[in-house]
Amino acid sequence: MKEIKRVFSGVQPSGDPQLGNYLGAFKGWVDRQSEKENFFCVVDLHALTVTPDPEQLVSQTRDLAAILFACGLDPKKSTLFVQSHVPAHAEGCWLLNCVTPLGWLERMTQFKDKSEGRGSVSTALLDYPVLMAADIILYDAHEVPVGEDQKQHVELARDIANRFNSIYGETFVVPEPVIPDIGGRVMGLNDPMVKMSKSYSHIRGHAVRMLDDPKEIERSFMRAVTDSGNEIRFSEEEEKAGVNNLLGIYKVITGKNEKEVERDFESVRGYGDLKKTVAEVVVEELTPIREQYEHLMDDVAELDRLLAIGAEHAASVSMPKVREMKEKMGLIVP
Ligand code: TYM
Repeated sequence: MKEIKRVFSGVQPSGDPQLGNYLGAFKGWVDRQSEKENFFCVVDLHALTVTPDPEQLVSQTRDLAAILFACGLDPKKSTLFVQSHVPAHAEGCWLLNCVTPLGWLERMTQFKDKSEGRGSVSTALLDYPVLMAADIILYDAHEVPVGEDQKQHVELARDIANRFNSIYGETFVVPEPVIPDIGGRVMGLNDPMVKMSKSYSHIRGHAVRMLDDPKEIERSFMRAVTDSGNEIRFSEEEEKAGVNNLLGIYKVITGKNEKEVERDFESVRGYGDLKKTVAEVVVEELTPIREQYEHLMDDVAELDRLLAIGAEHAASVSMPKVREMKEKMGLIVP
């Protein structure tokens, strides 16, 4: 097994990437990319579980890859690729299906949430976490930087890795989720009790989309739900969830600690000024990303070339792993 510490994470090209994706995942990927060997994946096969429009899936996949490069992922430090370009993921998923008990998948809260109230859901929706486990463990990733909502899936990947190892002998590194303390759960601006999500980013006032223009970002923050008081402080109280969320966003972007953040707002009267200040730091953070994204989308051939290089490198790590799995499982490997 390799000694070098690896990081793996992924994002689905479904809906518009939003501030929660950025603060819970992308920002940390970029900030720490010099520390380890990194693989980041645009998981288009996962996006298929909700049968998106094919043309839209094509454009959302490229958009998301361009946004990730625009955030600062550097092809010299991080391997960014599209999941379906590396066949090891789908193949590894099948092999792992064969050691994963059905009950483990039926217990996943995201499956329960996504299937609730729907007459029929695809088999792939249930199998989603096994594909995610394949993504991670085929790279012997030690660390999986994700937002809080993906913790249960990463824990399942650990269970699957352990089970495979115990049946067929040491094969996989058992991965750990790495969750940022505050950015790990950015809440909706229209309802601070609900996680900000790509799936609701079409709902007015819910999310700040990463490509929104400054006016739109300011409008979203000015409409943010708070409480009827006027105290600007971090708090676990349900009533203060809106203010807490705004302060959390400000904290992650500025890199300040809680005391420093509260001090910044000491002399501020009313939530209007709080919202305005938070909107300003978010605009400052996202504007260069939007500009760089536009620049990258001017040359789609170059973007595709970078993704092809990423896929080639990813395949050079994951294909031999699938081969090893097959041999251990008793398949004849030509
Ligand atoms: P996805 O596409 O829903 O989200 C991508 C990343 O963004 C984080 N995130 C958030 N973090 C904080 N606050 C929020 N409101 C918020 N919304 C989203 C997610 O936790 C995630 O880290 N199943 C995964 C994709 C995946 C994957 C993987 C991740 C597939 N294979 C392997 C890690 C490793 C997903 O749907 O993420």
